[in-house]
Amino acid sequence: MSTIDRVGIVGAGFMGSGIAESAASAGIDVVLYEPELNPLTRSQERLRQSLERAVSRGKLTGEDAEALIGRISYTTALDDLDGAHAVIEAAVEDQTVKREIFQDLDTRLPDALFLASNTSSIPISELASSTKRPERVLGLHFFSPVTVMKLVEIVVALDTDPGAVAIAEEFTQSIGKQSIRSTDRAGFIVNMLLVPYLMAAVRMYEAGFASAEDIDTGMRLGCGHPMGPLALCDLIGLDVLCAVCDSLYDEFKQAEYASPPMLKRMVASGRHGKKTGYGFYRYEQHA
Ligand SMILES: NC(=O)c1ccc[n+]([C@@H]2O[C@H](COP(=O)([O-])OP(=O)(O)OC[C@H]3O[C@@H](n4cnc5c(N)ncnc54)[C@H](O)[C@@H]3O)[C@@H](O)[C@H]2O)c1
Repeated sequence: MSTIDRVGIVGAGFMGSGIAESAASAGIDVVLYEPELNPLTRSQERLRQSLERAVSRGKLTGEDAEALIGRISYTTALDDLDGAHAVIEAAVEDQTVKREIFQDLDTRLPDALFLASNTSSIPISELASSTKRPERVLGLHFFSPVTVMKLVEIVVALDTDPGAVAIAEEFTQSIGKQSIRSTDRAGFIVNMLLVPYLMAAVRMYEAGFASAEDIDTGMRLGCGHPMGPLALCDLIGLDVLCAVCDSLYDEFKQAEYASPPMLKRMVASGRHGKKTGYGFYRYEQHA
């Protein structure tokens, strides 16, 4: 068991729900916060479906699934995070929203061992600077879908204390993940390598070079990738991806990071990928 046996999670969307499930499946108590009730109800439903699948495949007993469900509490009251040993923020990718959250958490949880953000693109130093204890602020960048993907990038900002990093590493290991360390630069390790590749695929499609299916089949069967780049864009979420591109472009000013016009228009039209049922492909069931 790790030093952390009660964790707060802020934001119960796609990622927050997955982080909650992973932590609870490792025996950690989770408090999942959202300002509104609807996302919490959706998160509960998502968890139920995920556990039903695991039980039907024989990966989990019904009893263990119920125990896991019992370890997650859902709340719209930030006060309920009191007593959490650490908090992971996985709210919308908006700097103003996240800064407010960190400011609030800093005041409410003076003893938390770390305050982490799952941000894909916002500098951790920005979030740390909205607190009075920047030494315990760091990035914990999970990958999607969280319950399946083993990697977590631990983002070490300018003022992050090595002790907080060590506790975060121990925590990620305790929930069955492998961590790697990155400095606080847009894109960290994986997105800095992945995003130019995904955007090249979007530009190829935009230029009418090939169909989405053929681009994806090319990379799956030609390179052994488990998923093609456009299907991966849909899975990540085109809105999230656009925000990541913007921050990479803002940081490095290199054309390879700029959002292609088509991606921006798809986001503007509400085509956010699998989670809205429509992106480069259509999906019958929303994620
Ligand atoms: N989707 C991915 O593949 C992925 C991967 C790694 C990291 N991330 C990062 O994780 C974070 C969440 O992404 P997501 O894909 O889960 O998005 P999402 O849209 O599914 O979830 C975001 C949630 O934040 C909630 N929210 C909005 N304002 C809030 C507030 N003030 N307090 C608490 N919750 C609030 C929304 O209601 C929503 O449920 C983002 O920072 C994103 O960059 C996403």
